[in-house]
Amino acid sequence: MRVSIVTGTRPQITKSAPVLVALEEKGVDVRFIHTGQHYDYELADQFISEFSIRTPDHNLEVGSGSSSYQTYEVMSRLERVLSKETPEYLIVPGDTNSALGAALAGFKMDIPTCHIESGLRSFDMKMQEEINRRLIDHGAAGLFAPTNLAVKNLDDENVPGMVFQTGDTMYDILKKRLQTFNDPSFQEETKRELGISEEKFGVLTMHRRENVDFPDRLKGIIDGLGKIEHRIIFPMHPRTKQSISDYGFSIPKNVKVVDPIPYTTMMTLVSRSSLLLTDSGGLQKEAYLLNTPCVTIRDNSEWVETLSAGANVLVAPRGDEIHSKANEMWDRELKNDPTVYGDGQASEKIAEIVASGEIVVRDNVMLS
Ligand code: UD1
Repeated sequence: MRVSIVTGTRPQITKSAPVLVALEEKGVDVRFIHTGQHYDYELADQFISEFSIRTPDHNLEVGSGSSSYQTYEVMSRLERVLSKETPEYLIVPGDTNSALGAALAGFKMDIPTCHIESGLRSFDMKMQEEINRRLIDHGAAGLFAPTNLAVKNLDDENVPGMVFQTGDTMYDILKKRLQTFNDPSFQEETKRELGISEEKFGVLTMHRRENVDFPDRLKGIIDGLGKIEHRIIFPMHPRTKQSISDYGFSIPKNVKVVDPIPYTTMMTLVSRSSLLLTDSGGLQKEAYLLNTPCVTIRDNSEWVETLSAGANVLVAPRGDEIHSKANEMWDRELKNDPTVYGDGQASEKIAEIVASGEIVVRDNVMLS
């Protein structure tokens, strides 16, 4: 069987790596296609090498641009590759512009398309990612849902494809390496490497368009960070770096900026930290799995399980609110239940379902 997997960004490489390996172990002929939406070494190649997957068979070199540009370029460049590779299935992970562009190419070419991390909803149609994942879910033939709630969301929307509750592939990766991330001597080594001398510190990531492309919001967040009475380590995304420089903002003294860091370093850092502040999707879930309290600088979250467990709180991009939520969550003792994200075998299950050939495009789909 021939299958193509398409990634474009750092988190998509993480989500796909264990599926790619599991499919190859089953003897499936996999083509690994990277769109090039992320092209910096720290955002793409470093992740590919860290998960010991081979370099992509094709790089579409789409690069930066508006959402429409990225979506269109991925769709049209991928079409040329897929017409040569003729896969029986196309697999796309997540909710990025690359995922949407790739899925559209699959739909238009009548290739049964499967979606990893299907059924997540923030119910916020102002987010590009929410639009992307809804569109993909409504055209996909196979939908791999990470949680009970994701399945419920898909049922509520009466999606035409076949829904499978598989668990979360990011949990598969994290579970296998949990011992390393929690190892005190490895944690100290990681701190040393990053020049962190404080016993207690927080970690910050921020890159979402809604936060960094609007000066008022970005300013509110930076003010809030400056009010926190602790060291905050900030691996800065290139988009954020650009915005901060464009608006001429300066970073508060308690915030230490570093370049984007590899997966293992990031997970170890979050595991050792007293708090994660973020606007990322995946990191909210990873903090939950590492029992690190999280403050999410967004109006909503698709990882609602982390909110209902009290492990994660939402905060508006305003200085005083960020300060007070960070204090409230700092060092909070957590014993989160990881099984809401499956049993660590999601990738195996996905590979088994794909390799069995049971996913078919349904005809005669009725809307209830
Ligand atoms: C994208 C995804 C987001 C995901 C994130 C992970 C969409 C709509 N968003 O956001 O869901 O959480 O990736 O990081 O697809 N840039 C570089 N080097 C790179 C990549 C980007 O310098 O390797 C800069 C460019 O100036 C670019 C900007 O970052 O314009 C934004 O990149 P883009 O791919 O548009 O979105 P992300 O913010 O990374």
